[in-house]
Amino acid sequence: MLSVAILAAGKGTRMESSIPKVLHKISGKSLLQRVINSCDKLNPDQIFVITGHKSKEVQDSIPHNKKIHFVIQEPQLGTGHAIQTLCNQVKTNEGKLLVLNGDVPLIKPETLKRLLNLHDSNNADVSLITTKKKNPYGYGRVFLKGNFIERIVEEKDCNNQEQLNLLINAGIYCFNWGNLSKIISNLQNNNKQKEIYLTDTVALLENSLSLEIEDNGELQGINNRIQLSKCEELFQNLIKEKHMLNGVTFINKTSCSISEEAEIGKDVIIEANTHIRGCTKIFNNCIIGPNTFIENSNVGFHCEISNSTVYDSQIMDHIKIGPYSHIRPKSKISSYSKIGNFVEIKNSQLEEESKVNHLSYIGDSIIGRSTNIGAGTITANFDGQKKYQTKIGRNSSIGANTVFVAPINLGESVTTGAGSVITKDSKDNSLAISRTKQVNIDNWKKKKPLSN
Ligand code: UD1
Ligand code: CA
Repeated sequence: MLSVAILAAGKGTRMESSIPKVLHKISGKSLLQRVINSCDKLNPDQIFVITGHKSKEVQDSIPHNKKIHFVIQEPQLGTGHAIQTLCNQVKTNEGKLLVLNGDVPLIKPETLKRLLNLHDSNNADVSLITTKKKNPYGYGRVFLKGNFIERIVEEKDCNNQEQLNLLINAGIYCFNWGNLSKIISNLQNNNKQKEIYLTDTVALLENSLSLEIEDNGELQGINNRIQLSKCEELFQNLIKEKHMLNGVTFINKTSCSISEEAEIGKDVIIEANTHIRGCTKIFNNCIIGPNTFIENSNVGFHCEISNSTVYDSQIMDHIKIGPYSHIRPKSKISSYSKIGNFVEIKNSQLEEESKVNHLSYIGDSIIGRSTNIGAGTITANFDGQKKYQTKIGRNSSIGANTVFVAPINLGESVTTGAGSVITKDSKDNSLAISRTKQVNIDNWKKKKPLSN
């Protein structure tokens, strides 16, 4: 039987934030969610999330399921007190209890598995992950005696000699839950912070083991925004390195961010200041950026998107977008189309080879194949209450500054006169024009008297 306890009750004072620490995010997911996802891969029987500070907010932040149980720790008297609270509430303390700090978000499931294996094969009372840090400041120092851990001393309780110990406690423990519950109530708070430390359990248990691993960033704890930013950078580097090894070029890696779900094809070039978010898929041979944001969208083969924003949309193959285009949700741009400067597209379908090159708003529309939308064209889709559709057939030529007052339905090969306000449907091959005829009035300008 494997149970997990995630310590998430603390305020995170050093974050200087009104948001509980474990709800701060790394690449779009909260620290707590990341820890849950990681331990979930071990398929535990139950996960206890210990909350306290802004408990409701923390509980509401994660999807509830049968495995997840919440334990409220009120007040928060330290990490040891959190586990005391758990042991008091859960009476059957059987099997293993894996305890994870909620503020160590990058821990990998493989590393947790190694800890469980070490624990099982040695029949340990407690096994915990340690590493040697060049700068161990802030972490609890782990003191060994032979193969066993003798004690852990928190930074604030270390004397000068103890501070020199580089072996630190990562905040990830596996306990024999039965043996832990026998000693858990003996923990005291006689330390500098007057807190009940979970780390004091190692001195009370017999068989305490250390799994020392290489510090590759996954053990980074987060107590302040400097460490939050360090974790973000570490995580982003891992993602980008994965893509680079798969054939993606980054022109200016540090200025870009990529979600962990994103899929990027070969020979894609990601230019500076480009951000790929959510479940975005980019196929081979695209050039994305500079200054581009794409979220939850598909981008087909051989597209070029620069200085633009794309949300929840389908961009097919061989399409050029930008600079300065805004593709809003539920849009589909078909192959060989072109969306140009200062064009906004929303909930619209553009068929192949259509062009919207300059200064337009296309909303709730269907634009046929090979249709050209002239500069400044607007679909007026909203009457103040409801949204309506604009349909323009294929091979049409829409004159500059046309306004379509939706609902409107134009046939194929329709031409509209520049500056027209179109309020009526029109048939195939027609010209729709609605504007006052130009009048020229001669000698309109009064002659100025000639100056001397
Ligand atoms: C803790 C460890 C330290 C270790 C470090 C690793 C203790 C006493 N110290 O220190 O040895 O090197 O983590 O990152 O455990 N929490 C509660 N209830 C509380 C207090 C804290 O749930 O009453 C939670 C916090 O929300 C946080 C986690 O426990 O997620 C760790 O608490 P924190 O105060 O950050 O401990 P550290 O000082 O980092
Ligand atoms: Ca911490």
